[in-house]
Amino acid sequence: MSLIDIRNLSKSFVTRGRSPLFAIEGLNLSIENGEFCCLLGPSGCGKSTVLTMLAGFEQPTGGELLLAGRPIAAPGRDRAVVFQGDDSLYSWLTALENVEFGLKIQNVPKAERRERALKYIDMVGLMRAKDRYPSELSGGMKQRIQIARALVGEPKILLMDEPLGALDAQTREVMQFELRRIWEQTGTSVVFITHDIDESIILGTRIAVMTAGPSAHLREQFDVTLGDDRSRTNPEYTRLYERIHTIVREEVEKSRRADLR
Ligand SMILES: Nc1ncnc2c1ncn2[C@@H]1O[C@H](COP(=O)(O)OP(=O)(O)OP(=O)(O)O)[C@@H](O)[C@H]1O
Ligand SMILES: [Mg+2]
Repeated sequence: MSLIDIRNLSKSFVTRGRSPLFAIEGLNLSIENGEFCCLLGPSGCGKSTVLTMLAGFEQPTGGELLLAGRPIAAPGRDRAVVFQGDDSLYSWLTALENVEFGLKIQNVPKAERRERALKYIDMVGLMRAKDRYPSELSGGMKQRIQIARALVGEPKILLMDEPLGALDAQTREVMQFELRRIWEQTGTSVVFITHDIDESIILGTRIAVMTAGPSAHLREQFDVTLGDDRSRTNPEYTRLYERIHTIVREEVEKSRRADLR
């Protein structure tokens, strides 16, 4: 049994006055315990929809979505989520208090929760901004606080939807390094959506590419077997990049043609 089993999954949306939209149809994907699975695919194909269902905020309209063999019925503490473009920090709490908040709800003693929150604030490089309120933080800083908030609960599964998308190139590189380190140290399982093929190769143990929507499903998946040398000078890296790039480009092109129809 895999940690996550997505079996023949479908999701349609019914919007008043329009015919139903079959966003996902016949998606199959298994994610093993401890994997770092990156999900790629054209814009609008349904990546966020899959993540939202894994988080338990939406239900499939067909097929199965199993977590350790059981259907995902609701959100749970075992899964932490960083949503796409998330701006859900509490405006009346400082950065530090925002990171601490989930631990407070779980009745973690004050000294311990402060220590843990500071550790993750430090990890995302925001010690100097820890006492600022969200309105006093830049977009990238807010995004990093959101990541710290997801990490601090040390969840079994991390669900992240383009979490580094809003960051400048240098911070992004540092955060990629940190995420990979956290993943190695904690043994957490990660589902990570990105549009950046390099990012998926640097971070992933597996890369799953979705087809263009509607009725999106799995196009192909790749095991990343590069070991620690994940640099462009490694010929295997370039080979993998080219293979993924080719199919992503094909799917993006299909999606563009569908838009023109
Ligand atoms: N609540 C909803 N109601 C109706 N349609 C929806 C809803 N949520 C998503 N969709 C549609 O489902 C499809 C998949 O959307 P989704 O946000 O999952 O795509 P995505 O792959 O995450 O795209 P991006 O890369 O741009 O973030 C799109 O056609 C979108 O318009
Ligand atoms: Mg999305």
